[in-house]
Amino acid sequence: MNVEQLLALKQQALGEANAADSLDAIEAVRIGWLGRKGKVPEIMQAFKDVPNEEKRAFGQAVNGLKTELQELINQRKDDLDSAGPVDSFDVTQPGRWSRRGAHHPISSIIDRAVDIFSRIGFTVVSGPDIETVEHNFDALNTPADHPSRNPEDTYYLNSGELLRTHTSPVQVRYMKEHAPPIRIIAPGGAYRRDTEDLTHTLNFHQIEGLYVGENVSLADLKGDLTYFAKSILDPKTEVRFRPHFFPFTEPSLEVDFSFDGKWIEIAGAGMVDPAVLEAVGYDPDKVTGYAFGMGVERIAAITRDMPDIRVLYRNDMRFLSQFT
Ligand code: DAH
Repeated sequence: MNVEQLLALKQQALGEANAADSLDAIEAVRIGWLGRKGKVPEIMQAFKDVPNEEKRAFGQAVNGLKTELQELINQRKDDLDSAGPVDSFDVTQPGRWSRRGAHHPISSIIDRAVDIFSRIGFTVVSGPDIETVEHNFDALNTPADHPSRNPEDTYYLNSGELLRTHTSPVQVRYMKEHAPPIRIIAPGGAYRRDTEDLTHTLNFHQIEGLYVGENVSLADLKGDLTYFAKSILDPKTEVRFRPHFFPFTEPSLEVDFSFDGKWIEIAGAGMVDPAVLEAVGYDPDKVTGYAFGMGVERIAAITRDMPDIRVLYRNDMRFLSQFT
């Protein structure tokens, strides 16, 4: 017998072990190969007739056959054993411990925000991450030459669509389908071509809010966002509104929450521009509305004391398992 024949025998043995479908069958394979009168001892007998220069390779091949076959048989026995019916059960055994998962910090904040806004009559809606240029920019009154439309800033797809750069297009989708009064929030992902750093990631999350009806005013916006800030942070939180510009609101504001003695920029907001209301078929003489878009990562960064928000997206268990 030579080494090649031996390797063929090994394949045969492993094949038989794999094919065995019961504990009896696997035991028969074991006896047939490794048992006292099995094929392996028989092969060992032939060892003395192997030419000297082949003895070393031959010996290694026999050992390989023995250990691999034995391991496979043990493994198959384990598998077949645990698959079988339970015939005894020790009720005094401690239960099996299973690890509990955790909500990702971003999901937890979105869940809490949804809870807080639903208490004042908002319903949750969503829109697609892949958007049309029309919904993401045009219907939001964003001029053709606005820098945010640049391919350096926005991910365009070959289809001509894009990865939405904010959650604001959900406003457009919802208003097209529903008559006022409406009160919605839309949490979800947004995407921008950017350089990642401590406070920026290429994909991030926003919570969009929109309230349109008769006589909705800036005072409603301020009141509702202040209520939200105090609920998600703590009752002593203060809110600051600074004038700003967005194409889809007039007037526009940026909103800061006080945290730890500092002002943290949390949202953009404003009164929905009449041009946006008109584009979705609303009558700006009859209804007004406020809207906001807030950064979820911003809230995570302060409430979880995260100097570098990129850890949110690295899937490092040492980070994630802190939130169980
Ligand atoms: N879409 C804006 C952004 O991503 C945030 C925003 C500002 C949303 C004003 C609004 C709004 O709905 O009214 O920066």
